[in-house]
Amino acid sequence: MENINVLINKARIEKRIDEMAKEIEKDYEGKEIVFLGILKGSVPFMWELSKRIKNDIIFEFIEVSSYKGTESTGTISLHKDIKNSIEGKDVIIVEDIVDTGKTIDFLLKHLQEKGANSIKIATLLSKPSRRVIELNVDYIGFKIEDKFVVGYGLDYDQKLRNLPYIGYIE
Ligand code: IMP
Ligand code: MG
Repeated sequence: MENINVLINKARIEKRIDEMAKEIEKDYEGKEIVFLGILKGSVPFMWELSKRIKNDIIFEFIEVSSYKGTESTGTISLHKDIKNSIEGKDVIIVEDIVDTGKTIDFLLKHLQEKGANSIKIATLLSKPSRRVIELNVDYIGFKIEDKFVVGYGLDYDQKLRNLPYIGYIE
């Protein structure tokens, strides 16, 4: 593997997730929240975020993919859907990174007929300069420039998800 440079270290990530958790607690006072994690990249962020929130949180997961290596294929495929009903529920889609916006757009359309009371989006990272579909992303950890990043759930060909920081490959 090429050299990996640290873009955002563990302490900065955790401090920011603390702030995001407080914001979500304030917005969802006393409400149960369904955290809908997009497999697999959202797992570390979903855990770090949810453990800082006192509300009742239900974990659900959905699996989609769009990337091969460092290039987006642009086509989203659904590999695993949710089994439990989200009708009437307040859902937060939890994502590792919003890049072109195609994955979130696909999911919002997919979830439309499932009857959730509300759907918001929380992402650890966002690359606004890459957006193809304009989206309103409710909770953003860090806005980053157009670099291919790894770690904290983000992979390069399925590897490097377990790095405890966000790095980029030279
Ligand atoms: P979008 O559909 O273009 O917004 O892409 C979202 C998905 O692409 C994310 O869930 C990631 O899995 C993947 N992705 C986008 N940028 C990166 C990156 O810099 N590193 C690793 N995965 C990425
Ligand atoms: Mg992903």
